[in-house]
Amino acid sequence: MRLTLPPEAFAKQDPSDDALFYRPARMVTHVDAAALSALTACYQTRLWPGADVLDLMSSWVSHLPAGLVLGQVTGHGMNAAELAANPRLDAWFVQDLNLDPQLLQEDASQDAVLVCAGVQYLQRPVETFADVARALRRGCQVDSRREAMIIGPCPHRGEITFATM
Ligand SMILES: C[S@@+](CC[C@H](N)C(=O)[O-])C[C@H]1O[C@@H](n2cnc3c(N)ncnc32)[C@H](O)[C@@H]1O
Repeated sequence: MRLTLPPEAFAKQDPSDDALFYRPARMVTHVDAAALSALTACYQTRLWPGADVLDLMSSWVSHLPAGLVLGQVTGHGMNAAELAANPRLDAWFVQDLNLDPQLLQEDASQDAVLVCAGVQYLQRPVETFADVARALRRGCQVDSRREAMIIGPCPHRGEITFATM
């Protein structure tokens, strides 16, 4: 994919290693209660029982509806202690996507990929989201809100659809 943005558009003001910033665990809430409530309601309508979900750029909370029984929920983030404390995760891994934008997930292994309050930190978003598309089961859709996006199957299309709301 060709980007019309120059590479420096993704440069950070602080050029230091992201791992340094994320070394201490931060058991904090990054988004206010009203936004999280709207996000959880959105997950309730867009996800379904048994779905295999990857919570990309996660922490100690995933904001998933309490009563929704999913398939495998895999978390990804930058701090092991935060991910280990997240009660919704069945499995998790730490990976700096700015150093390595390729995911560990097998091809067509996920029904949905969630990103909440994280996409703005990606310096190689095209590579990461190309790999998200590889990891998703056939046909996917991006439901992008101001602070969160859900990428999941769109049953009527065999292509990636970007839907901004
Ligand atoms: C503001 S927190 C949001 C955490 C969580 N999604 C939530 O809603 O509470 C931003 C998250 O982005 C992730 N992140 C930031 N820089 C990253 C990088 N270089 N590679 C991978 N993940 C990164 C970390 O997991 C971090 O917890």
